[in-house]
Amino acid sequence: MPSLELAQDRVEELRREIRRHDYQYYVLDNPLVSDAEYDRLMRELVALETEHPRLVVPDSPTQRVGGQPLAGFQSVGHPVALLSLDNAFEAAELRDFDRRVQQLAGGAVDYVVEPKIDGLTVVLAYENGSFIQAATRGDGLTGEDVTQNVRTIRLMPLALGEHDSRLAVRGEVFMPKSAFARLNEERDSRGEAPFANPRNAAAGSIRQLDPRITAGRTLGIFLYQVLVGGSREVATQAETLAWLRQTGFSVQQEWRHCRDIDEVIAYCASWADRRHDLAYEIDGLVVKVNSLELQGRLGSTSKSPRWAIAFKFPAEQVVTRIQDIIVRVGRTGVLTPTAILEPVQVSGATVSRATLHNEDMIRAKDIRIGDYVLLQRAGDVIPEVVSVFEERRSGSERIFEMPKTCPECGGKVVRLEGEAANRCTSITCPAQLKEMFLHFVSRAAMDIEGMGPALVNQLVETGMVQDVADLYGLSKEQLTSLERMGDKSAENILAAIDKSRNRGLAPLIFALGIRFVGTRASEILADRYRGMDALAAAADEQLTQIPEIGPKIAASIVDYFRNEQARQLLAKLSRAGVLMEQAQREPVAAGESPLAGKQFVLTGTLSSLARGEAENLIRGLGGKVSSSVSKKTDYLVAGSDPGSKYGKAVGLAVPILDEEAFKRLVTAHQE
Ligand code: IVH
Repeated sequence: MPSLELAQDRVEELRREIRRHDYQYYVLDNPLVSDAEYDRLMRELVALETEHPRLVVPDSPTQRVGGQPLAGFQSVGHPVALLSLDNAFEAAELRDFDRRVQQLAGGAVDYVVEPKIDGLTVVLAYENGSFIQAATRGDGLTGEDVTQNVRTIRLMPLALGEHDSRLAVRGEVFMPKSAFARLNEERDSRGEAPFANPRNAAAGSIRQLDPRITAGRTLGIFLYQVLVGGSREVATQAETLAWLRQTGFSVQQEWRHCRDIDEVIAYCASWADRRHDLAYEIDGLVVKVNSLELQGRLGSTSKSPRWAIAFKFPAEQVVTRIQDIIVRVGRTGVLTPTAILEPVQVSGATVSRATLHNEDMIRAKDIRIGDYVLLQRAGDVIPEVVSVFEERRSGSERIFEMPKTCPECGGKVVRLEGEAANRCTSITCPAQLKEMFLHFVSRAAMDIEGMGPALVNQLVETGMVQDVADLYGLSKEQLTSLERMGDKSAENILAAIDKSRNRGLAPLIFALGIRFVGTRASEILADRYRGMDALAAAADEQLTQIPEIGPKIAASIVDYFRNEQARQLLAKLSRAGVLMEQAQREPVAAGESPLAGKQFVLTGTLSSLARGEAENLIRGLGGKVSSSVSKKTDYLVAGSDPGSKYGKAVGLAVPILDEEAFKRLVTAHQE
């Protein structure tokens, strides 16, 4: 047993570490360590405090339930304290839990086991069957009012069949893995930092001060507990889940009623591999006493109920070695250090690279070339280095130095004040040019089909293009002189380039790759300024007055258009016949959302929105989405390659909106 003095030092160190990670996690949504590592720190602290109760202080991280409410949202007091769960990591701990429960219950107990959704806890309140409020968990007693954001979630019932005067339910908002991957791709293309895992992405989406941003994200929700109200006939957790579903809530279907702890343990074990097949992340299972009456009798400690426990999966971590650290140069010139690993299998995939994000991250974890490291896939998606095995160092490891010059072009590298990133400052850097090209031709930008990385590399390396405007001057002869380029392909590419001239103002703004200006900001700007010249002349103060355009975006826009090179590029694009104006928009009556109560059906592929995003937008504005066309359908939104719904809509004289018309309808209201 460590002496009190030694223990005290360690306890203080642990508290400092945990507080730092809490801040990274709850406030910045940017954790530096894995959940497993965080749990280890917390467990060590709990163990030391249990051993030396004199060291317990009221502000120790072990003494509070969760994060602090953020400024910017109204505070909401919860109808009952939202407790957290104790964790079990092994079967033996589940047996201990069962023993404690049986002792207090005075006999055999049955359980319900549910997946533990790795998301953000919310409490939904309904009055007389209508949704009135959603709150985050906050510190367990008071949370943040996120009603408008939660309202935009698909599967969120706004009106219930059941008309209890007051009903409060608890559940979890999450981001499906596919939506998470797509969101991070988008963020990456805008030069923004990716979310570390789907849970942080969900939290970041729900804690948006502007609900329209939430509406553009694909989120799901599962409910599992009735806090206030509900049916008197419900006597068990199994019945609660059935009742919630029948009342109109979205309920996770993968739960199991287990007659005893052996069945619980077997069911938990069966999930070790299966968890990866789900469309969303789960980080364990929750074991709950089935009888609600017994739950009441068992009660809770100050932090967690005695009738439930979380069985946490071990994070799938593996050991590998860093063979090298290379540096990639992105479109905005950011140098990203990437670890080249001895290939290993982790969470069902072979991993041979892991991003190290930036210099600070490498220093904080003291990662060196040649180190043995612990690796995991964050949110089972992005591979990350968790920690280094210092004790396995041989002395031959090398400390990584960020290059002072760009590894691609030799340009000067600088680190701007207040930024973690190092950037290449050269405006002719070929690596940046290639990335810039790929962004310019990408689907959400100018949508030039057939322009992949191989072609872009050749165009840049042969010097055929020096800026993106040069694309519009390419000839068939030039293209066919390139490798693997026949007559037909060259013609198709030229046709695609030509078509992009009329792509429109919003995609063009996005295509320019102005820092922080994503698809949504581009649409807002196009709608407001109607032409590139007007946007180029906009002053900072004017831009920041536009909803959703913050000071960072505004400054970046002003900066961009101040640059002589950018102005020349735009003039060149204009001379090449690229449309610099926005088509006139149809006026929409002010007042209520034109989508309210209207029934929409979608068909075909939309070029600038995923299907789910379009559905979210409709629902966020009070519209309904249905899967088939009928007489009740108000609009059919038809993308490219529409299906049979198109013919049916024509037959029933249902108004058909193409993508542009749909976007006009939506943005008209959103302004
Ligand atoms: S029951 C009083 N069931 O996991 C017990 N929690 O610390 C209420 N979670 O923040 C929790 N899925 O929000 C329960 N099926 C599930 C869950 C679940 C995810 C969250 C919960 C809490 C955390 C446990």
